[in-house]
Amino acid sequence: MKKHNFLTLQEFSEKEIWDILRTTKKFKLKKCDSNILKGKSIALLFQKPSTRTRVSFEVAINQLSGHSIYLGWAESQLGRGETIADTARVLSRYLDCVIARVNKHSDLEEMANYAEIPVINALSDLYHPCQTIADLYTIWEKFETLDNLKVAYVGDGNNVCNSLLIGCSKLGINISVACPIGYEPHSTAQEKAKMNAKESGSKIEIFREPIDAVRNANVIYTDTLVSMGDEPEKETRLKTFLPKYQVTSELFKYTSENALFMHCLPAHRGEEVTDEVMDGSQSIIWDQAENRLHTAKAILIKIIA
Ligand code: CP
Ligand code: NVA
Repeated sequence: MKKHNFLTLQEFSEKEIWDILRTTKKFKLKKCDSNILKGKSIALLFQKPSTRTRVSFEVAINQLSGHSIYLGWAESQLGRGETIADTARVLSRYLDCVIARVNKHSDLEEMANYAEIPVINALSDLYHPCQTIADLYTIWEKFETLDNLKVAYVGDGNNVCNSLLIGCSKLGINISVACPIGYEPHSTAQEKAKMNAKESGSKIEIFREPIDAVRNANVIYTDTLVSMGDEPEKETRLKTFLPKYQVTSELFKYTSENALFMHCLPAHRGEEVTDEVMDGSQSIIWDQAENRLHTAKAILIKIIA
């Protein structure tokens, strides 16, 4: 059987993404077999910190009767210089899947090249596809459709933004991004999204002014202005982004009526978003975080079972 990696989300068709969303719904409604990963061993190989991704995958694997092994990158022999290729070859002899969080997306590609088992991207510097699946599911859950919707992403054109562009453009959701010069989504992600949009009919726009991006939007989405690995640029970034790119209640005056607020978390309250928005009635961030668990199950089923 050909192995199915999950590195960017671009590898899945619109139909396959919908399959994952429908399976997620069954899991959330508890209408799915809970022994589906019995006998399967899955490692979480993490090079950076994590709360949601690690815990939701570990719990998902456990609830599906599989076995999860957490392996810190630095604590494994990778930390002492064993190559990614050799590590991937060895892990393939023990495991059914590797879920990896890495600094460099190219390391993940290398791992996927040498592994005989599927590799799932648990976040890289370029993409966060598992997050996007949970985001798409949350939007579908709240609006009960994905037709005629517009998502506005305000802030840094980072890994979360890149994957959101791919996910929205696959499913026909319009997406606009507002970011400063030099902080645009990655050019490859933009190209993929534009290609997808030709098929799905999504409209993709990049603006400088947050007000232009959020006009008539159904969702405002933001993420940290200082991603993991960007810490040396923290001061410059905060000066560049703030106050203009902060999501405030004022910004919601320009959206469509009843627009919702999303954030992948962790949030830096008072930087990319105010407390008022985070804790306000339009915020769906806790449901979004919960959906990481249900979507993790659907992703695992799609990739392994
Ligand atoms: N959203 C997300 O991936 O969170 P963690 O970094 O806590 O896994
Ligand atoms: N863009 C953030 C996402 C964290 C889930 C980061 O890479 O740190």
